[in-house]
Amino acid sequence: MTPDEFVKDLDERNQAVLKRLEPEATLAPEVSGDLTVLNLLKVALKNEIEATEIAARWLVTTDEVDVKMALARQAGDEAKHYRMIADRLRELGFDAHAFNPIAKGYGPLFNYLDRLTTTVERIAAGQFTREAIAVVKNRQFIEFCERAGDRVTATLYRDVIEPDERFHQQLGRSLLLRCAITVEAQEKARRAALRTLELAEELQAAALKTAGIHHAPGC
Ligand SMILES: [Fe+2]
Ligand SMILES: [Fe+2]
Repeated sequence: MTPDEFVKDLDERNQAVLKRLEPEATLAPEVSGDLTVLNLLKVALKNEIEATEIAARWLVTTDEVDVKMALARQAGDEAKHYRMIADRLRELGFDAHAFNPIAKGYGPLFNYLDRLTTTVERIAAGQFTREAIAVVKNRQFIEFCERAGDRVTATLYRDVIEPDERFHQQLGRSLLLRCAITVEAQEKARRAALRTLELAEELQAAALKTAGIHHAPGC
């Protein structure tokens, strides 16, 4: 496949799986116990710190200058999201300064991404696929905030965070067009994207089972 054909094909495969990540009852989600905007924002902090750190770790172990700078930009954006979410949590009455989202360790998706060593796998998994997942999750979260009557958080996600995550995904797309140029690289990219989606599905299934969480925001 040409890089163009490959990226189009990978995008279609991703979108087919992402449809499954969208809950069938998006408009009437199961909200149980204290499933609140505040608690979901605490999950978001963990996602943002993990996204920041993965981009930062890859930045120092990537040789290609354009990829390095894309990762630097992403690390900065994810750190900005972290700060904005922490500020919003404070407005909601929760002191995020005294809270360490990774006190119990990193999640399985972080650990998987951290083990990837080639640029093509990193771009396919971390930017092209993980950010596509974030866009879907954030859209669901915005709807959740609106139903909960939290316009401020919905606006933060709609106006700032979601457009950034979309930009990260586009960055992944343009870098993938340049590095998924051989059969071998394309195979690696396809496997990394698939594993990322599998882990996201497993995480969603686990979150649903343990906490009834359908729409934790992503990054
Ligand atoms: Fe992102
Ligand atoms: Fe983010």
